[in-house]
Parts: sequence; structure tokens; C-alpha cells
Amino acid sequence: MTASIGRVVVLLGAPGAGKGTQAQILSEKLGLAHVATGDLFRAAVRDQTPLGVTAKGFMDRGELVPDAVTIEMLLERLAKPDAEAGILLDGFPRNTAQAEVLDKALGDKGGRVNVAPLIEVPEPELVSRLGGRWICRAQGHPYHLQGKPPKQAGICDVDGSELYQRDDDKPETVQARLRQQLGALEQVVGYYRDHGVLATVDGTTGIENVSKDLLAAIEPAIGSRS
Ligand code: AP5
Ligand code: MG
Repeated sequence: MTASIGRVVVLLGAPGAGKGTQAQILSEKLGLAHVATGDLFRAAVRDQTPLGVTAKGFMDRGELVPDAVTIEMLLERLAKPDAEAGILLDGFPRNTAQAEVLDKALGDKGGRVNVAPLIEVPEPELVSRLGGRWICRAQGHPYHLQGKPPKQAGICDVDGSELYQRDDDKPETVQARLRQQLGALEQVVGYYRDHGVLATVDGTTGIENVSKDLLAAIEPAIGSRS
């Protein structure tokens, strides 16, 4: 890990709640490094590294990747220099064991989770969001066929790379992800509620409004960008 770590935001939400969409907007506004374990796994799968080979089977079945490999990957990411100013976590922690490891790792560097906003979206809406999602090859910018279409079909507005559908957005895998992962999310929500850092935001009000509500929850806890 870096010698110290600044502000830490943990963005919580079910698959399809809008974590990635909001993390890309908020990390830029708040000057935090966006750390998304799903993106790190997808890069490892694409590059066919040993980690990617291990992770792929779990991801394709909609299951969580085992803690040992996930935690090691996350700690390596937190050691990068950009984490020192602060991080916005997207997709980690996914269970209580990961939350405890994170607390310990941050505590060793004089940091802590400042706030954990939960983006709440009902299950039927999650299913339709994931079914219509396309993301870009270069950086994972998310789009939606109806909700957020790209300006030019099949091309990312931000970086011009090709858009594709994630393997785990197939209908049967979406159902498996929700079945396998919603219980673990509940545990993590309870963990942060008990630690007094949970904030709940309605995720169904449109991307811009959700961003505003998240900022209203996050800024008092971490202070504005200096
Ligand atoms: P990960 O990549 O983290 O996937 P996820 O949690 O299932 O979440 P998603 O990325 O599917 O959804 P999102 O909340 O980011 O929504 P998005 O912004 O894209 O993880 C993938 C896999 O990796 C896991 O299943 C697991 O196997 C493994 N993994 C990752 N982390 C792990 C960990 N810590 N431990 C173990 N395993 C791990 O938005 C979705 C769609 O909705 C988009 O089309 C978007 O345009 C649209 N949308 C967004 N906001 C709105 C809005 N307000 N209104 C209307 N539409 C919206
Ligand atoms: Mg995501």
C-alpha cells in the first residue's frame, strides 16, 4: 500500500444499480481514484492472465470470485500512487470478510471508510438495465439502448472505442448474479449501517439526479475537493 491514504468512499448497489455510471462522474468531480474490482477482473480476463483465467468461470456463473484472489488484487491496486489522494470503490467490498480486510488495510495507513452510499433500485429495473447495457472496450463507460444511448451507434462518446455487451449480462447470468449476490450485499449494507457510515440514495431518478443526491451524501463526509 501507499504510505498513507486519503478520503475513502465505498459505492454500494446491486448489479445494475448504476455504480459504474456514477463512479465515473463522481471520481472526476471529487478527485478520487475510481477503483472497480469488476473492471480489474475484466482486464485480467481480456489479457488472459492467471488471475483472469481463475476469475472468468466465477464471473460467467454470476458468482463472487473467491476472497483470497479478490483481496490480493484490491490491495495491489491500493498500493498505486493515485490512491494516496483518496479512492472511490465500486464493487468492493462484496461481503463482510472483504469489508473487514478493507478496514484493517485502511487503518494501517491512517485511513477509514468515510461514507458508504447505497444506490437503491428495485429488482425488475435492474434486470432491464443489465439486459440493455453496452460498455466500451477501452474504459468500460456504460451505455443503455433506451436509457443512455451513445451519440453514434456502437461507439463510445468519451473515447471513441467500440461498444460491446458483457458476457455476464446474458439473461440467465443476470438472474444468477442477482440470486447469488443480493444476500451478500445485504450483509455489507448492514456492516456499514452498524459502523454509522451508510447513506441511502434513490437510484431510479435519472443519472443526473442520482449524481446530485450522491454528492449531497458524500461531500459532508469527506469535504469538497481542495
Ligand atoms: P461488477 O463489474 O462489479 O458488476 P456488478 O456489481 O454486477 O455491477 P454492474 O457493473 O453490472 O452494475 P453497475 O452498478 O456498475 O451499473 P452500471 O453503472 O453499469 O462485477 C462483475 C463480476 O466480477 C461479479 O459478478 C463477480 O463475479 C466479480 N467481482 C467483482 N467484484 C468482486 C468482489 N469484490 N468480490 C468477488 N467478486 C467480484 O449501470 C447499469 C445500466 O443501467 C447501464 O446500462 C446504465 O446506462 C444504466 N443506468 C445507470 N444509472 C441509471 C439511472 N439512474 N437511470 C437509468 N439507467 C441507468
Ligand atoms: Mg459496474
